[in-house]
Amino acid sequence: HAETHIENFSFSYEGPFGTFDQNQLQRGLQIYTEICAACHGMEYVAYRTLAEEGGPGLPEDQMRAYAQQFEVFDESLADGQGDYRTATPADYFPESSLSNAPDLSLMGKARAGFHGPYGTGLNQLFNGMGGGEYIASLLVGYEEPPECAPEDFEGYYNTAFDAGGYPASCIDEDGHHMAPGSWIAMPQPLYGEDIVFNDGHSNELHEEAKDVAAFIMWASEPHMAARKQAGFAGVIGLSVLAVLLYLTNKRLWAPHK
Ligand code: HEM
Repeated sequence: HAETHIENFSFSYEGPFGTFDQNQLQRGLQIYTEICAACHGMEYVAYRTLAEEGGPGLPEDQMRAYAQQFEVFDESLADGQGDYRTATPADYFPESSLSNAPDLSLMGKARAGFHGPYGTGLNQLFNGMGGGEYIASLLVGYEEPPECAPEDFEGYYNTAFDAGGYPASCIDEDGHHMAPGSWIAMPQPLYGEDIVFNDGHSNELHEEAKDVAAFIMWASEPHMAARKQAGFAGVIGLSVLAVLLYLTNKRLWAPHK
């Protein structure tokens, strides 16, 4: 395994009480739509989720208008021959249009920024598996290729990506990689100032990378906030139960002391 550079971005959704930042998800949706969707699909995410609580929270009419930009193939139309129609909120985002670009629906869960458990494992408890850190680091991880590489080596050098090609001329006698990362098939998609946001938020490369990474994390777990709330209620409930059981136990055994 090659060494990679993963930056520890700080996201609002981290920690036991973390929630997604609605404005950030709306910016992320805009970046995904205008840039990433040229190659990547998100076939497990339905348009209606864009209006759900805990997500980008688009107003109902905006969510409908978003869906209506797309066409879907409906097998029930034209006497079972199938035909295209305008998408509705119940339909799903398209699949990837570029065959070697992976679908982004579950990418947030499929990748990890921190491989663990390190030490006590507390980093993962508080910061998660780092899918967002990985994706944001990948997007800011494009650099000039190291000098050891042949100029015509295939792909784009990226310091966060470790699953790509690696030139033999960059491996030393001990088998160590002389430069972090590897060569990825995705050309650098973001450079900074790619998008102008309605909310006036910064469009520096780091900010854009963070926004779209948060959006991809939301897509892979749209009901995260509800899960955390239920978990918290569960912990509180069990704590109360533990206190009551302790007191009951004391009282039951009191006469026998
Ligand atoms: C791979 C995100 C834009 C083509 C990936 C991966 C992510 C990603 C997370 C998976 C990396 C991994 O396997 O660990 C994004 C985002 C984009 C974007 C957030 C927009 C900001 C694009 C565009 C293209 C593209 C515009 C096409 C020109 C690819 C390809 C791969 C890939 C071909 C596979 C790379 C490989 O396995 O070597 N992308 N992408 N992506 N993306 Fe993108």
